[in-house]
Amino acid sequence: MLIKAAPAFSISCSHGDARRPLFSSYSSVNQHLISSPMIRSKTGAGFVACASKGANSKPLTGVVFEPFEEVKKELNLVPTVPEASLARQRYVDECEAAVNEQINVEYNVSYVYHAMYAYFDRDNVALRGFAKFFKESSDEEREHAQKLMEYQNKRGGRVKLQSIVMPISDFDHSDKGDALYAMELALSLEKLTNEKLLNLQSIADRNNDVQLADFVESEYLYEQVEAIKKISKYVAQLRRVGKGLGVWHFDQMLLREEEEAVA
Ligand SMILES: [Fe+2]
Ligand SMILES: [Fe+2]
Repeated sequence: MLIKAAPAFSISCSHGDARRPLFSSYSSVNQHLISSPMIRSKTGAGFVACASKGANSKPLTGVVFEPFEEVKKELNLVPTVPEASLARQRYVDECEAAVNEQINVEYNVSYVYHAMYAYFDRDNVALRGFAKFFKESSDEEREHAQKLMEYQNKRGGRVKLQSIVMPISDFDHSDKGDALYAMELALSLEKLTNEKLLNLQSIADRNNDVQLADFVESEYLYEQVEAIKKISKYVAQLRRVGKGLGVWHFDQMLLREEEEAVA
């Protein structure tokens, strides 16, 4: 006596009066199956038992998925050379290069902010709030670069770090003063970063890389606009307070604000 059980996920379809599971081992046995939780059909060879749930027994038309046939072409595409990424799929060179470029942008901005931190931390400048703000901004931009590097590896691309430009080390400005000048510079850098991110997103769109476009949108674009708004407010306030005592008060406010943000 032969007893064969069809898998619980089998999809049955109706051809004439026969209900046939698409993925089961049915095809090797020419049987007539009746749809019920426990299906039994008597044949010349014996009984066939097919465990099938009610929903799976509904007839489907035009759905014929042959997983082991369709996976064959994917199997042929799996790289065998050790240098090639195994995970890479639909990730074109242009997107890979654009991600590497954005990594470089984030590192460059981080470097400029680090230079600003060093300037405001000098003993003869001594604006602790500014120093702290730019130190944290520098760390944040480096984290942005790091996240892009992780993404590059996740998609099977290769991280290629490029040169970082040497930033200026003095931020004093005869008309604006150092505080306003540095903050205006920061605003320009954030807007430039936003332009670069939008460019990265448009490259992803052009190449139909939905995953990359979603990554840029969800992880970067919202936060970037928030940063632009925040620094714009700082620039507006610094334009009001002038270069002397007002900057000291602003620095104290910045120190408290940054400490509250961390708490
Ligand atoms: Fe950034
Ligand atoms: Fe930023």
